[in-house]
Amino acid sequence: MKCVGIIGVGAYVPDNIVTNFDLEKIVDTSDEWIRTRTGIEERRVATDDMDTSHMATMAAKNALLHASLDAEDIDLILVATATPDAAFPSVACMVQAALGIKHVPAMDINVACSGFIYALVTAQQFIETSAYKNVLVIGSEKFSKIIDWSDKNTCVLFGDGAGAVVLSEVSKGRGILSFELGADGAGGKHLLVDKITNTVKMNGREVFKFAVRQMPESSLNVVEKAGLQKEDVNFLVPHQANIRIIDAARERLGLEAERVSATVKKHGNTSAASIPLALFTEIQNGLIHEDDVVVMVGFGAGLTWGSVCLRWGK
Ligand code: ACO
Repeated sequence: MKCVGIIGVGAYVPDNIVTNFDLEKIVDTSDEWIRTRTGIEERRVATDDMDTSHMATMAAKNALLHASLDAEDIDLILVATATPDAAFPSVACMVQAALGIKHVPAMDINVACSGFIYALVTAQQFIETSAYKNVLVIGSEKFSKIIDWSDKNTCVLFGDGAGAVVLSEVSKGRGILSFELGADGAGGKHLLVDKITNTVKMNGREVFKFAVRQMPESSLNVVEKAGLQKEDVNFLVPHQANIRIIDAARERLGLEAERVSATVKKHGNTSAASIPLALFTEIQNGLIHEDDVVVMVGFGAGLTWGSVCLRWGK
């Protein structure tokens, strides 16, 4: 079977920055509480005229540029999102139209914050079997539109943004080495969108307990499935929800802070966008190199989780 890996990465965040100090003015919170409990200092919030599909398109264009491909080279578009512009058409179809590509299949995948990993693994199957050659995998979210801005338990946590990758065949030994996807529907009640108010409701403590157990475990599982040891891991790109959850995964893998992405500080939790956005940031920072073993791991509503172990490079 073909080796499948990431050949281009792009991202987009809205210009508008909302700091913890801005939030102090609208709910009973403090910069100190938010920073110490979550690691978040600021987040981006999109304006009314910018929706999930617009951010997805911007990130996709950047990823295509990075991959040195034209939009016409793409033969499948997958968008991981829990905040589509509307129930239909899908964000993926909107991106297809915006990129000016005709006829290629396009669909959304909703696994909340685990969505990007699920979409990546879905894309991998199509390329491995030679059904498609180049797949655009995007994570894009406008969580600000499903946040109750009077609820301090949730409004301080989330942000808007998008990240995208182009997945293609890569040279032998590189690309995705192993993956794990999982779900526990019985835990769905802990993190959901209320049917009446259409806003996020969360039992933070339960989600926290789930995440500190599941993220490290799933990270170790993919390393083992890849036939590697945790000492072989060069870089960890975890879902960016809370620095304390990220640290739990980092410690179980025995990695020092410099080898773990922690963009939550600047972007908050951007749900399905968080992993590709963090990946893009760390590539820009020069922290991911050819042949590095990279683990990407996410968790989220469902409850769900997913992880991938890959060897970086074309
Ligand atoms: N500012 C000030 N005080 C606050 C705030 C706030 N923004 N939010 C909650 N509090 C208060 C609570 O009301 C509580 O007060 P009480 O003790 O008087 O009742 C107190 O702070 C402590 O609450 P805890 O729940 O114990 O705080 P904790 O240390 O667990 O941190 C947090 C809360 C940050 C939400 C944490 O539980 C967490 O990160 N959970 C995971 C959340 C997560 O990752 N969600 C995203 C999932 S991904 C997806 O699919 C969308």
